[in-house]
Amino acid sequence: MGFFSKDIKTLDDLFVHTLQDIYYAEKQIEKALPKMIDKATNADLKVGFQKHLQETKGHIERVEQVFEMHGVTAKGVNCPAIDGILEEADEVSGDIDDKQVLDAALIASAQTVEHYEITRYGTLAAWAKQLGRDDCAAVLVKNLREEEATDKKLTTLAEGNINLQAAE
Ligand SMILES: [Fe+2]
Repeated sequence: MGFFSKDIKTLDDLFVHTLQDIYYAEKQIEKALPKMIDKATNADLKVGFQKHLQETKGHIERVEQVFEMHGVTAKGVNCPAIDGILEEADEVSGDIDDKQVLDAALIASAQTVEHYEITRYGTLAAWAKQLGRDDCAAVLVKNLREEEATDKKLTTLAEGNINLQAAE
């Protein structure tokens, strides 16, 4: 941990803490995605997860870039929220034999992750602007846009999955 809430006094402190939170979250997501790639049965979903793994590596680099621009060392802080989301994703998908139901569960879990990231990047970009750091905000918005695009793609896949089931 190392950064307890009592240490957060200014918006700048909160910005750095939240940057550490998303840094930790992105690294956990990077670790979780290969498992999700293995489990996915739909080819488009598999490819989508593979693409997002590459994007996630880019997100980590951009967060490191923001740390550097802000003059603080890049480090993560435990984020029980993302740990819980990923743990639940693993548990729910672990027992499903039906391929379409499994894919539906994976899509739902991935969207939960995306929404978590979207709220973090949205907040961080807004705070960066308030702190007069439009340069940091611009980098954070790049991650935000990619998470939003991934979320939209997952919605398309989810709707396709439902249609497939309906056709049977
Ligand atoms: Fe990400």
